[in-house]
Amino acid sequence: MARLFIFLNIFFILVATTTPLTEHSPKPKPRPKQKPHAFVLPVFKDTKTGIYYTNLTIGKPSLVVNLAVDVRGSALWFQCDELGYNSTTYTPILCGSKGCEQTKDQCSTCMGTYGPSCRNDTCHAYLQTQMTYNTVQASLGKDDVVLSYTSPSTKLAARLPLACMSASEVVAGLPYGSQGILGLGNSSTSFVNALVSSYKIPFKVALCLPSKPGNDSGTVYIGGGLPNVNGLLVSTPLVSIPETREHGEDNYYIDVKSIEVNGKKLSFNQDLLTFNKTSHYGGTKISNIIPYTLLDTSIYKALVKAFAGKAKKRKAVYPFSDCFSSKSFGVKSLLEKEVPVISLVLGGGVKWDIYGPNSLVKVKKTVLCLAFVDAGDGPRIPIEIGGYQMEDNLVEFDLEASKFSFTSSLLRHNTSCSQL
Ligand SMILES: *[C@@H]1O[C@H](CO)[C@@H](O)[C@H](O)[C@H]1NC(C)=O
Ligand SMILES: *[C@@H]1O[C@H](CO)[C@@H](O)[C@H](O)[C@H]1NC(C)=O
Ligand SMILES: *[C@@H]1O[C@H](CO)[C@@H](O)[C@H](O)[C@H]1NC(C)=O
Ligand SMILES: *[C@@H]1O[C@H](CO)[C@@H](O)[C@H](O)[C@H]1NC(C)=O
Ligand SMILES: *[C@@H]1O[C@H](CO)[C@@H](O)[C@H](O)[C@H]1NC(C)=O
Ligand SMILES: *[C@@H]1O[C@H](CO)[C@@H](O)[C@H](O)[C@H]1NC(C)=O
Repeated sequence: MARLFIFLNIFFILVATTTPLTEHSPKPKPRPKQKPHAFVLPVFKDTKTGIYYTNLTIGKPSLVVNLAVDVRGSALWFQCDELGYNSTTYTPILCGSKGCEQTKDQCSTCMGTYGPSCRNDTCHAYLQTQMTYNTVQASLGKDDVVLSYTSPSTKLAARLPLACMSASEVVAGLPYGSQGILGLGNSSTSFVNALVSSYKIPFKVALCLPSKPGNDSGTVYIGGGLPNVNGLLVSTPLVSIPETREHGEDNYYIDVKSIEVNGKKLSFNQDLLTFNKTSHYGGTKISNIIPYTLLDTSIYKALVKAFAGKAKKRKAVYPFSDCFSSKSFGVKSLLEKEVPVISLVLGGGVKWDIYGPNSLVKVKKTVLCLAFVDAGDGPRIPIEIGGYQMEDNLVEFDLEASKFSFTSSLLRHNTSCSQL
């Protein structure tokens, strides 16, 4: 039986690698029985930038590329030329092809001559990331990407869309050693969409972000197949607001109805919590590429007041505004009851409880800072949930069911994203 399994796995890898889904090839052959449950990628934390990244093996000869993970991002894109990417299995998406037509919503154009093919008839699209706010022009193509999947646990090479940004374009704020972005959102250039249609998996992306830097990785799950977290997952509607889409980048909103500290509701202008379709202001957005949750000043002030209580103030450490003596919050662990619990009360009646490991950052041996950033008075998005608040929580974006699910801190259950 074991032998048969090994044989089937090898067979599957062969089938997967020898039937590339190129632009012009006929329909793929029926896949073997072991339909992938979920694709899994390791995700690492870069403490300097607070950005999480993964590594992918692309093309032939294979190239390992480090990519910042952006759950809302529109594509897999990187600095191809700088990495010496010159893959024999790369095929450009040509102007006038169906693949190019499909990206018209991202203002695809047919100019420029960069990318490994150096052809000027290659389709280009404008891509955007919150990391730069500028749009970046990139040439579109496809190549083999090695991915691991669960049940059975093995690897395959999938034929997936990618984009090469021009050598002159810079994406600021990437972790040292990362050369691009892996966008996991839905768009016409989407990496996940290609997996969803080739492998008939549901459009679900889950993140379990690690809290420790280095090789203690967390996991990105594509297509479901989450580990068993004993009924800890609860759900609230995930709202994608089309008005806020730009160049294919998706925006995920959740309906925060109020915020509590130790069960007591904060008082601030509740109108901030609703997205206004006329002014485009308001609401709560989730973005894993901002390191800490950003709050409108009025919400931030109300939160500090309730959270700090009589805690001893210390000098603030950038980017935080409020820091405290760590003695004020228990001594052994941030999970102790001295650290107030912040709860986001959500649509559907569920609460996302935020405990010490996600609400406080240790900046010095004896100093802890409130891990939220004051975004000033009247930002367009009054609450933008960032990566630190999601660490060691399993969070899932289910685009098909328009559902956002989360576990709250796994550390309270003696596990973590590095251990799952
Ligand atoms: C890319 O690889 C091909 C061989 O596959 C080689 O002929 C060509 O010179 C390479 N180009 C660069 C820029 O390295
Ligand atoms: C992580 O593992 C790589 C090898 O896979 C090694 O070179 C590196 O030093 C390790 N980093 C840490 C922080 O342990
Ligand atoms: C990604 O990085 C980890 C840790 O350094 C390493 O163990 C793994 O082999 C790398 N994966 C690839 C595809 O290089
Ligand atoms: C939405 O914004 C518009 C324009 O700023 C404003 O006139 C309107 O009162 C706002 N609606 C709500 C419900 O706040
Ligand atoms: C992805 O976006 C396309 C185009 O906007 C839409 O038709 C499709 O339903 C979306 N898929 C999911 C799973 O939301
Ligand atoms: C976690 O471990 C501690 C000690 O190691 C134990 O006291 C506690 O009951 C455990 N909690 C859970 C939820 O397993």
